[in-house]
Amino acid sequence: MATPDGTEPEIRPYRSPDDAAATYVVARTAIARTAATAYDPDQIAAWLGPARLDLTGWDERRHGASTLVAELDGIVVGFADLRSDGLVDMLFVDPRAGGRGVARALLTVILHDAEARGIAELRTYASRSARPVFERLGFTVVADRPDNTVRGVVVPNTEMRRLP
Ligand SMILES: CC(C)(COP(=O)(O)OP(=O)(O)OC[C@H]1O[C@@H](n2cnc3c(N)ncnc32)[C@H](O)[C@@H]1OP(=O)(O)O)[C@@H](O)C(=O)NCCC(=O)NCCS
Repeated sequence: MATPDGTEPEIRPYRSPDDAAATYVVARTAIARTAATAYDPDQIAAWLGPARLDLTGWDERRHGASTLVAELDGIVVGFADLRSDGLVDMLFVDPRAGGRGVARALLTVILHDAEARGIAELRTYASRSARPVFERLGFTVVADRPDNTVRGVVVPNTEMRRLP
């Protein structure tokens, strides 16, 4: 699907290790800027955690979770994943590319992938900023998680699922 300005996000598989740095920066920028509108600074600091210099572990996890990368004009602007157990663990879009359908494009390909891989039910733990996006893509609320804790700080999120 084209973004409102007509540019089509390209969705492609994560390339290890070349995409590690770009996806890492997208995630941190999305948390620090977009999610920061929905959480307190203490919560954002806990979610961010310490900055990593070595991205080996990050790269291995993205590679192992069937990550998809979104590009606009050849630049990585977002990524999402689909674990074999149906968990969509990551969904991040660079705020400079936000509101242009990048997350929708990523999740649309993930839905097709899930069908092709025989994964019937998708699940996620949606942040406050991601919840309306998942709802738009057919996910429904299983339970609010007001006590969800990240590095000792309460960072509420919502368990959601999408049935076929
Ligand atoms: C959540 C996030 C990935 C959304 O990315 P995005 O590319 O800006 O989202 P899209 O433009 O593709 O929006 C998808 C749909 O959700 C809708 N939507 C987005 N934000 C919304 C909001 N706050 N309220 C209602 N609908 C909303 C859009 O209108 C769109 O619907 P449409 O295509 O039917 O018009 C991005 O904001 C982000 O990275 N947030 C911070 C990190 C985060 O919380 N990640 C999730 C961890 S679980």
